[in-house]
Amino acid sequence: MVEARCCFKLLYAILVVVLLHMSSPCIGCSERDRQALLALKQGLVGDDGDRLLSWGREAQNKNCCQWEGVYCSSNQTGHVVKLDLGDQSLQGKISPKLVHLQHLEYLNLSFNNFGWSKIPDFIGSLSNLIYLDLSYANFGGQIPNQLGNLTHLQYLNLSSTSSSDIRPPPVNSIHAKNLNWLPNLSGLKHLDLSYTNLSDIVGWLEAVNMLPKLTNLILWRCKLPPPIISSVSLMNSSNSLVHVDLGLNNLNSSIFQWLSGTHTNLVYLDLSYNNFNGSSIPASFGNMSSLAHLSLYDSQLEGGIPNSFAKLCRLRELDLGVNSLSGQLSDFVETLSKCAQKTLESLDISFNNISGSLPDLTNFLSLKHLLLQDNNLSGRIPKSIGQMSKLETIGFGWNSLEG
Ligand SMILES: *[C@@H]1O[C@H](CO)[C@@H](O)[C@H](O)[C@H]1NC(C)=O
Ligand SMILES: *[C@@H]1O[C@H](CO)[C@@H](O)[C@H](O)[C@H]1NC(C)=O
Ligand SMILES: *[C@@H]1O[C@H](CO)[C@@H](O)[C@H](O)[C@H]1NC(C)=O
Ligand SMILES: *[C@@H]1O[C@H](CO)[C@@H](O)[C@H](O)[C@H]1NC(C)=O
Ligand SMILES: *[C@@H]1O[C@H](CO)[C@@H](O)[C@H](O)[C@H]1NC(C)=O
Ligand SMILES: *[C@@H]1O[C@H](CO)[C@@H](O)[C@H](O)[C@H]1NC(C)=O
Ligand SMILES: *[C@@H]1O[C@H](CO)[C@@H](O)[C@H](O)[C@H]1NC(C)=O
Ligand SMILES: *[C@@H]1O[C@H](CO)[C@@H](O)[C@H](O)[C@H]1NC(C)=O
Ligand SMILES: *[C@@H]1O[C@H](CO)[C@@H](O)[C@H](O)[C@H]1NC(C)=O
Ligand SMILES: *[C@@H]1O[C@H](CO)[C@@H](O)[C@H](O)[C@H]1NC(C)=O
Ligand SMILES: *[C@@H]1O[C@H](CO)[C@@H](O)[C@H](O)[C@H]1NC(C)=O
Ligand SMILES: *[C@@H]1O[C@H](CO)[C@@H](O)[C@H](O)[C@H]1NC(C)=O
Repeated sequence: MVEARCCFKLLYAILVVVLLHMSSPCIGCSERDRQALLALKQGLVGDDGDRLLSWGREAQNKNCCQWEGVYCSSNQTGHVVKLDLGDQSLQGKISPKLVHLQHLEYLNLSFNNFGWSKIPDFIGSLSNLIYLDLSYANFGGQIPNQLGNLTHLQYLNLSSTSSSDIRPPPVNSIHAKNLNWLPNLSGLKHLDLSYTNLSDIVGWLEAVNMLPKLTNLILWRCKLPPPIISSVSLMNSSNSLVHVDLGLNNLNSSIFQWLSGTHTNLVYLDLSYNNFNGSSIPASFGNMSSLAHLSLYDSQLEGGIPNSFAKLCRLRELDLGVNSLSGQLSDFVETLSKCAQKTLESLDISFNNISGSLPDLTNFLSLKHLLLQDNNLSGRIPKSIGQMSKLETIGFGWNSLEG
């Protein structure tokens, strides 16, 4: 009898569990997560249409998994895994209760206005985060080292301001004293710290180089100091990189050594607005066989175009304007016609010191933009240029060309 009752109890318990599971969409989010979201809402103000308006305390609105911008795990445990509050005009203070969302994998607070306050240290306790987007959200101050705790992170965007390149960044824009925390993020694929102040970080390249899975590295206008190339950084030079933007920094030509390593997957490379004074375009770039976009604009380069560029068969945009390049235009054209003549869409070699006459370019079937102004070109503009049906922009000025 005792046994039977026990058995009955057990069956009853199983039934309850099964029923709970079947009806779990109605159970909704976990109470702890709901309280954390309500605390977050309390610290923030948005605009008339922000997502927080759908977050409520009312009984009929208890299921936080149905609140706008909130996404729960599909395994019916009711844990919030994704919080998308990008572009909601939010201001105010981020409640530390946010860390109660221990299952959070995606946090997007971009395009809001946190008044140049520091990125909260406690974000480092959201240890399951995979995506963290705090870009263009008017955060300031020092990047917290606690980010080194986010070892599952694949995407980190702290890109700091949407203001124009000319306007100086706000006094308290995001900066870092070191990047010692960065190598901890060993799964990182996308890193964007554009407009942050990294001027103190002599070893930035060493830190970046320790990220074996990095595909996108965007450090535009970070006041990066010239890289220090050690045997270590060359040995570990990453093959995973696809998109590298290091424009508008204080790099010197030592960066070429690092890039010439093994970057066969590189599709996009922007090194514009640096100071490669006295250096020529490195021949090793011709080995980047996937390269589609190369910008070396305004970087004090000298010499001509390396013969190895004849191997770039996927090149679509080549931007070499505003340098001290010299040589014959026919040499540039001949080198590029070897392989890139079907793909090349844009060629900018304006504001250099290139001589000779303009050769026939009709083999460049995709060419849309051709900028040659401010050079030392002479002779006649070939009539065949009129047959180039794709051509949209031509710049010839400040040469001695005749029509
Ligand atoms: C349910 O999903 C969450 C978030 O993805 C995860 O942390 C948790 O371990 C999962 N629970 C079960 C029982 O699978
Ligand atoms: C974050 O939100 C912004 C604005 O809605 C969006 O443009 C961006 O793609 C989002 N970031 C990520 C990583 O999904
Ligand atoms: C780092 O993570 C550990 C374990 O998840 C946690 O105990 C610790 O508080 C975190 N540290 C910081 C600074 O976030
Ligand atoms: C970082 O965010 C900015 C602004 O949202 C965006 O333009 C940029 O593409 C993002 N970077 C990456 C690597 O996604
Ligand atoms: C790196 O992560 C480990 C845990 O994996 C942690 O103990 C350590 O403090 C982290 N280092 C930094 C600099 O964040
Ligand atoms: C950049 O940071 C360095 C120190 O971290 C500081 O000396 C410099 O003034 C900062 N520059 C700007 C424009 O904030
Ligand atoms: C190379 O990078 C890995 C991380 O990807 C790191 O563990 C290792 O120490 C680095 N090697 C050297 C010699 O720095
Ligand atoms: C670039 O700057 C670093 C650090 O100041 C220096 O060690 C290196 O020699 C420089 N490289 C060139 C090519 O001038
Ligand atoms: C460029 O290098 C030359 C010598 O090669 C030097 O005289 C000149 O001062 C340098 N200019 C800048 C801006 O560094
Ligand atoms: C290009 O790659 C080949 C094969 O890996 C190598 O032998 C050559 O030295 C490289 N050229 C340059 C300029 O780096
Ligand atoms: C322009 O290049 C020619 C060689 O093609 C060179 O002799 C001349 O000095 C260069 N002029 C300037 C201003 O750099
Ligand atoms: C322009 O090119 C001619 C040869 O076509 C050369 O003699 C002259 O030095 C060049 N001018 C400059 C300023 O480099």
